[in-house]
Amino acid sequence: MIQTIPTTPIDGQKPGTSGLRKKTAIFRQKHYLENFVQSIWDGIGGVAGKVLVLGGDGRAFNREAVQTILKMAAASGAAKVIVGQDGLLSTPAASNLIRIRQADGGVILSASHNPGGDDGDFGVKFNTANGGPAPEGVTNAIFDASTRITEFHIMDAPDLDLGTVGDVQLGQMVVEVVDPVADYAALMEKLFDFTAIRALFNSGFTLRFDAMHAITGPYAREILVNRLGAPAESVMNAVPLPDFGGGHPDPNPVWAHELMGIMMGENAPDFGAASDGDGDRNMIVGRGAYVTPSDSLAVIAANAHLAPGYAQGLAGVARSMPTSAALDRVAEARGLPCYATPTGWKFFGNLLDAGRATLCGEESAGTGSDHVREKDGLWAVLMWLNILAAKRQSVAEVMAAHWAEFGRNYYSRHDYEGVDAAAAETLMDDLRARLDKLAGEAAGPLTVTTAEDFSYTDPVDGSVTTRQGLQIMFDGGARLVLRLSGTGTEGATLRVYMESFSGERFDQDPQAALADVIAAAEALAGIKARLGRDAPDVVT
Ligand code: G1P
Ligand code: ZN
Repeated sequence: MIQTIPTTPIDGQKPGTSGLRKKTAIFRQKHYLENFVQSIWDGIGGVAGKVLVLGGDGRAFNREAVQTILKMAAASGAAKVIVGQDGLLSTPAASNLIRIRQADGGVILSASHNPGGDDGDFGVKFNTANGGPAPEGVTNAIFDASTRITEFHIMDAPDLDLGTVGDVQLGQMVVEVVDPVADYAALMEKLFDFTAIRALFNSGFTLRFDAMHAITGPYAREILVNRLGAPAESVMNAVPLPDFGGGHPDPNPVWAHELMGIMMGENAPDFGAASDGDGDRNMIVGRGAYVTPSDSLAVIAANAHLAPGYAQGLAGVARSMPTSAALDRVAEARGLPCYATPTGWKFFGNLLDAGRATLCGEESAGTGSDHVREKDGLWAVLMWLNILAAKRQSVAEVMAAHWAEFGRNYYSRHDYEGVDAAAAETLMDDLRARLDKLAGEAAGPLTVTTAEDFSYTDPVDGSVTTRQGLQIMFDGGARLVLRLSGTGTEGATLRVYMESFSGERFDQDPQAALADVIAAAEALAGIKARLGRDAPDVVT
C-alpha cells in the first residue's frame, strides 16, 4: 500500500561538494531522510518508470536508509532499483553500474572519508545517468524542492531481504540484488594488464592494501588476492564495519598511520595503498616513499599508456584548481590539453563526457579516468601496480625519474578543522576584498604577482561557477590557495594549499621547501590569530 505522509521543509538540506552530509543522528531524525529523498525525486522530475542504482559504504544507518529509499522509489512508480547485496556498493562501483545498466541515475549512501557510526556522519548523494555526481543545476533543483516539500510517498511494506542475489518484487517495482564486486572487477580486468601484475606478484613483489574497515575490503580481496594472486595478508582491515572500527577512513598519512608505520618501518612491503570509506579515494606509498596525490596524478598521466585500457594515450587531463601543477608539466611536455576545475568531482563530468579529458585528479587523494564518472581508489592502485609491473622499478625510483624529467612541485595542504564559521567567513571575505590590490605587495618573505577569486567557465556547457577559492601567485612561481570546505558537518574547515617548484632539488622536506609560502599565507590572512589556532589540525 502506498502511503502519502504530510511533512514540512527541514532547514539545511543543501547538497555540498559531494551530496548532503550530516551527522548520522540528524539523518535518523523523523522525516529527515524521507524529506531529502522525496526532494531528489521531485528535483529530477520524478522517478516514475525509471531505473535507479542504490547502495552505500555500509556505515551506520546504511541498512535502514536502503530499505526506506526502496519503499519510496516503489511508491513513486520507479520501474526497477538495482541494489548491491546487503545494500553495499562502493562509489566507483555504483557509478559503473549506472553506466553499464543504462540506469537513469543512482543514490549513493556515504559520507566518504568522514568517520561513521552512531556519532559519525552519514550522507546521501544523487548521481545522474552518466554515472557522475549530479551537477549544480540538479543539486539546486533538489535543494529547491526540499524547501517546498509538503508530503512524501512511501510503501507500507516489510523490509526486503537484500542478502541474496536475484530479483525481488516490491509492489510494481523490481528490486534486483546484485553482487557489488563482480561488474567492477570485470571492468578493472579490461583496463589493466592483469597478467603482468600477476607476474609481478609471482616475482616476490609485496603489497599491503589498507581497506580501513571500509567498503573496499571485499573489492580488494577479490581483485588483488583472488584474481591477481597477492597473498591474503596483503589486504588489511578488510572487513567493512558500520563505524569503520572507530577510525577515520581517510587515506592520508595522518589517518592511515597504521599503514604508514608499516611502509616506513623495517622490512616494509614494496608497495602500500589505502582507500577511503566509500572507495573513491586512494593513497599510494612505496617502501619509505610517500607519493602525494598531486604527484601520483602526474606520474599516472606520464605512464598511463603502459596500461592496455589507455594504450592509445590520453585525450586530455584535468585537475582541481588547488591540485599542484605537477600534472600541467606532464601535459605540456606531452602536448596534452590540461584543465583546472573547481574542487569536487562533479566538475570533471562534462570534460569526461565530451571526451576532452581521459584522466582527472584532485589533491585530496582522488584520481580517476573516463572508465566511470567518480574518482576511483582501487583503479589508482591497479594503475600504479600496472606501471610498476611494466617498469620493474621501485616507487622511489619511479618518483626520482619523474622529478628528474619534469621537476618537482613541492606541495602541502594545511587544514584548520571545526573552526568558528563566522571567523572563517570573515577571514575569507577580508582577504577577498583585498585581492585587487595585492599584486606587487609583500607577503612575508614573498611578493604577490597575481591574486584572484577563482571562477570557472565550463568549456562544454558554458556554465559559470564563481567564488571557488582565493588563488595567490608569488614571484618565483610559488602559489597559495585558500578555500572553505564544502563537506564538513561541524563549524567550518579552512583549507590552505601551498605549492612551489624546483627544477633542481628533489630531496627536501615539503614543509621546509614551502616555509616561505607558509609564512606568506600567515602574513596575508592572519590565520592563527583570527581562528584562535596555533597550528593546523591536519597537514598533508
Ligand atoms: C573535499 C576535497 C575535494 C573532494 C571532496 C569530496 O571537499 O577537498 O577535493 O572532491 O572532499 O571527496 P571539501 O571538503 O574541500 O569541500
Ligand atoms: Zn570518498
